[in-house]
Amino acid sequence: MIFGRVKPLDAILATAEKKSLHRSLGALQLTLFGIGCVIGTGIFVLTAAGAQKAGPGLMLAFAIAGLICIVAALCYAEIAAMIPVAGSAYTYTYSVMGELLAWTVGWALVLEYAVAASAVSVGWSGYFTGTILNEFMGVQLPAALSAGPLALGGAPGGVINLPAVVIALLVTWLLMIGTTESARVNAVLVAIKVTALTVFIFLTLPKAEMDNFNPFLPAGVFGGFGSGIGAVGAAATIFFAYVGFDAVSTAAEETRDPQKNVPIGLIGSLLFCTVFYILVAAGAIGTIGGQPIMGPNGIPFPAGSEELARQCALPQYGEMLVCSNEALAHVLRVIGFSGVGNMLGIAAFVALPSVILILLFGQTRIFFVMSRDGLLPEGLSKVHPKWKTPYVVTAITGGIVAFAAAFLPVGQLADIANAGTLYAFMMVAIAVMLLRKSEPNRPRKFRTPALWLLGPLTIVGCIFLFLNLPLEAMLVLPVWGAIGLVIYYAYSYRNSHLGRGLIEVHETEIADIEPGIPGVEDGNHA
Ligand code: ALA
Repeated sequence: MIFGRVKPLDAILATAEKKSLHRSLGALQLTLFGIGCVIGTGIFVLTAAGAQKAGPGLMLAFAIAGLICIVAALCYAEIAAMIPVAGSAYTYTYSVMGELLAWTVGWALVLEYAVAASAVSVGWSGYFTGTILNEFMGVQLPAALSAGPLALGGAPGGVINLPAVVIALLVTWLLMIGTTESARVNAVLVAIKVTALTVFIFLTLPKAEMDNFNPFLPAGVFGGFGSGIGAVGAAATIFFAYVGFDAVSTAAEETRDPQKNVPIGLIGSLLFCTVFYILVAAGAIGTIGGQPIMGPNGIPFPAGSEELARQCALPQYGEMLVCSNEALAHVLRVIGFSGVGNMLGIAAFVALPSVILILLFGQTRIFFVMSRDGLLPEGLSKVHPKWKTPYVVTAITGGIVAFAAAFLPVGQLADIANAGTLYAFMMVAIAVMLLRKSEPNRPRKFRTPALWLLGPLTIVGCIFLFLNLPLEAMLVLPVWGAIGLVIYYAYSYRNSHLGRGLIEVHETEIADIEPGIPGVEDGNHA
């Protein structure tokens, strides 16, 4: 067998059958859940980094990244509905391509979930220091405490991003004690985010001036592989704004009529976000302009770099979109809507922690399943007697998330998260196609339409975006993967339950002990 240790699908499905969850999500709830996971730091903060890479071409970047996510989402949906168990891409890969590749996917998902949670924490910190501390309380947090050593737009001299550390640890604590988020709270937060973006669009678009879109592509469409600039370079970064939709596919098993509702939920939330994002970008750029700050060679300074931070500290660049830590609130303030800008800042302040919660929750689930499979130490999956949560793994994950958030800028964190996510999405598309061949008759609650077109398109799209990330972010994946392989061969290979001949059907799925997927629950646990 070319893939080595493959976990039998029937054992995985038997575990799923033991799940006691019987929820019946409809298309609307699923769409709301998707929007709740997706809208966050990407649009509220990274708009600035995206503009630095592509200028007004950021609008094209949102369209490119959105389309790739939609095709990936359709592949995700088939396998998620078919193998409805915790662990998402890791579990699918285990059953189709074996343990080693599953390990690499689980390892890459750390980048998707944990590093993304760090990125959202840093994004939140920008709104907290800008809107809450500065605008409302008149407090200026020293640069040393409000930014990591290289934070976007932060004055050089940042040492630690304290607010980002605090929010990451606070959310970790909430998860440890078993807090989840009811569907109702999720719906309210979605309403807050969507209202904020809608108001933004209505206030900015009528004031947009065509001149601000000229030149539309100051750094071209394609800035060169590894350069991280141009419209596709921006698409690779802004892809982050869509990360999290896979959470919708993980709720597939709890969906009524998944064949119909899962694609509506996935495509509905992604299309909705794509259109919104493009309009928001048009409003931001049309009003205050979104041209990048160019270096001496006519190439934009890298987003999040020290050089850019130095330029942004100059008075003539102070008001530029690309220099802002709270891009959307900043735009509204500059065009004379300070009060509304502050309200938008509050919306981000209130809503972003729930994105952190969902991402951290996703990460703990994956670690939990890997540890239950014996690939990580079993102590990690210990469940707290009172809180009924995997508190050990949650605490460790939260510590890692807080550490990364303390020192790294939001753009770089997002790029690293994207690298891991793109790898996982690619593996999912491969798994769906392999499974169609190896198990053609197994029942599928949802079938990806035109799989033999959309599957390869997903793979090519993911590789293409990956190659357009900045080189450093791209390199993180193989380095991270190499560290993972060392751990695999030093520990996991020998301790794997499957390797030791144990094929378990677990009596408890993690969902039975945890209060439930945040944003999906019926509200009893919130
Ligand atoms: N898509 C999520 C965000 O932009 C992760 O914050």
